Amino acid sequence: MLDELQELKDTSLRELEDIVDLDQLEEWRIEYLGSKGRLTQLMRGIGQLPPEERPEAGKVGNRVKNALQSAYNETTERLKREALEHALEADRVDVTLPGRLATLGRLHLSTQTLRQIYDIFAEMGFQVYRSPDVETDEYNFELLNIPKHHPARDMQDTFYIDEERLLRTHTSPGQIWAMREYYPEPIRVILPGMCYRYEQITARSEIMFHQVEGLAVGHNITMADLKGTLINFAQRMFGEDTRVRFRASYFPFTEPSAEMDVECFICDGEGCTVCKYTGWLEVLGSGMVHPQVLRNGGYDPAAYTGYAFGMGPERIAMLQHGIDDIRFFWNNDLRFLEQF
Ligand code: DAH
Repeated sequence: MLDELQELKDTSLRELEDIVDLDQLEEWRIEYLGSKGRLTQLMRGIGQLPPEERPEAGKVGNRVKNALQSAYNETTERLKREALEHALEADRVDVTLPGRLATLGRLHLSTQTLRQIYDIFAEMGFQVYRSPDVETDEYNFELLNIPKHHPARDMQDTFYIDEERLLRTHTSPGQIWAMREYYPEPIRVILPGMCYRYEQITARSEIMFHQVEGLAVGHNITMADLKGTLINFAQRMFGEDTRVRFRASYFPFTEPSAEMDVECFICDGEGCTVCKYTGWLEVLGSGMVHPQVLRNGGYDPAAYTGYAFGMGPERIAMLQHGIDDIRFFWNNDLRFLEQF
């Protein structure tokens, strides 16, 4: 019996050394220390020994049991410690590694150009005024002096929603909204927004694009005010030395009307492909608000005058950055967008 106990102690402790995880340890505990385990079984046999051998066998048996129990406890500690060390090792971070750069978003080129325009006009006292993208035939055309037979009302140019409603083809209907809201106060606003036209998409024309409209209404506003404002705008937008020229033009809602060209800032007026060898770039339409349009907005043309202008920020950005295809603006190709 004593030899068997010694033998059991030696084997079990040897096995314990090879144990690598808590599952194996539990199996070991059941095998040796469990209620049906080998040590328990062995110690049950003590009762069958001759009485004089029992005290000694009992003493040794208890000693073996204690030895196994404390070896078991130590191993539990060791395994837990090792598991923790492994977890820490796996979690280790090298704080000297360079970090991963977060990708930075940026403003769309159109937004950048729009904000540049807002800033310039804000300094001249213009507020931003917004009007709806979905307009009525009345606001988009009728009240702007564009009669029924006018070519701009051709089905091919306009996205109609139903008989009455359409997507605005320009920001000019905002003039009516602003006048009807502000009457009889003087007005100085810019009206930015998306415009829509039912057109074949090509390098030069898109079905959606921005416009920024300008409107000033008050007493004694003259063509000189219009020219002064737009010359100032051109110099802030394109450079202090930019020269401009006004060409007589026609718009149904202004009289007289003029288009403004700026001296080509690509070739300084020498002539290049961007200005098509004219030395000039067309940047906006403008004019004195037509008396009928003033009336439609609620202002008496005998007492008030006003000027208006309209420009396309995408077109301006294309000129500034030498972009030769307007489709780049909305096809969401990051290779294009990330350049600005
Ligand atoms: N609405 C015109 C267009 O879409 C642009 C325009 C021209 C606006 C002259 C104006 C203006 O306010 O006076 O082409």
